[in-house]
Amino acid sequence: MPESVVDPVDTVTEVPVAVVGAGPAGLMLAHLLGRAGVDAVAVDLRTREEIATTHRAGILEDGAARDLVETGVSDRILRAGHEHGGTELRFGGRSHRIDFRELVGASVWLYPQTEVFTDLADARARDGGTVHFGVRGTEVLDADTDRPRVRFTAADGTRHELRARYVVGADGSRSTCRGLVPERLRTRYGTEYPFAWFGVLAQAPVSAPELVYAHSEHGFALISQRTETVQRMYFQCDPDERTEDWPDERIWATLQARVAGEDGFRLVEGPILERSVLRFRSFVQEPMRWGSLLLAGDAAHTVPPTGARGLNLALHDVKVLAGVLLRALGAEGDAALADYQPLALRRIWRAQHFSSWMTRLLHTAPGATAFELRRQLGELDGVVGTRAGRAYLAEQYTGWPTAA
Ligand code: DHB
Repeated sequence: MPESVVDPVDTVTEVPVAVVGAGPAGLMLAHLLGRAGVDAVAVDLRTREEIATTHRAGILEDGAARDLVETGVSDRILRAGHEHGGTELRFGGRSHRIDFRELVGASVWLYPQTEVFTDLADARARDGGTVHFGVRGTEVLDADTDRPRVRFTAADGTRHELRARYVVGADGSRSTCRGLVPERLRTRYGTEYPFAWFGVLAQAPVSAPELVYAHSEHGFALISQRTETVQRMYFQCDPDERTEDWPDERIWATLQARVAGEDGFRLVEGPILERSVLRFRSFVQEPMRWGSLLLAGDAAHTVPPTGARGLNLALHDVKVLAGVLLRALGAEGDAALADYQPLALRRIWRAQHFSSWMTRLLHTAPGATAFELRRQLGELDGVVGTRAGRAYLAEQYTGWPTAA
């Protein structure tokens, strides 16, 4: 019996690249391919509204911000974003500035992931790119052949099939695409952490001109920003913490205790608009390619949030991948795909190390001994108190050049 009788679809679309996942990685890939005249259709289980209101990281490397501006996604970054020439590490009750500009001639942009997503989704709509949000039952078929397909049910209940040359799995940290790589061929590397982040959005003025990464004996805190009147803050918590147990007063008391010090620094308080517990881990799956399927962003690797590498890394993956796919769809064919993993992976493992290092540097492990706390303070002093230490942090935090 023909397959169409078994499981009929309403439309069949031939497209060079089908992208599973329409977050920043999937949409930026579709955008870069579109600019080069190659069509890519993206699908996502989440609605546009759901993605746009899922609060994530807020820091873009200079290079990532420049790519978004120069490829015509948005110049809103330049108007609505804030360029930060440094950051503060706070420990022992004092702040120590790491001056990115002076140390490595670089800066970063405070521009939330939610805005990056909105800009990308708007750019796709403007450029006539197809994105299906809010789909159900996405299935990737024949990924190990040169005729892979993606089937899904659109939000309006119609059934669709994309017949592609390549399928990209950009479906985030709970990726189903990565599970398509046969067990015997894939290796998963990773580690768990005995803590999570409690993230809040607060209606309050800014408390500090730049981000503050705070170490304290009570645990880590990060003071970030969103606008003049809305701030983003996080503090280390137990992974099983429940947001219902955290009224505003308890949140502020916890944050204040973690940044308190001899200099009298205090956060400006206000109503908490949103709260969530963010679990994290370090994870990499190899290979990043199986047959006609390629994995990008969180689908292939996740990092702890400390140091804000996740989004930047995903944007780097798709920059490399767009170049490789254009070569593969051109004269070179599949052979070009072999370049993707080595070019992406070098930065991935650097970022894995940096994110894990910065997490361990600043968080307090449950049951940490007095020795461990003092050792950490010694490490922090080595980071802020030596030029090499400061330059190391500045260079890792602001990113590295794109793989050639
Ligand atoms: C933000 C998040 C991070 O993980 C980080 O390292 C810096 C900033 C943020 O949400 O603003």
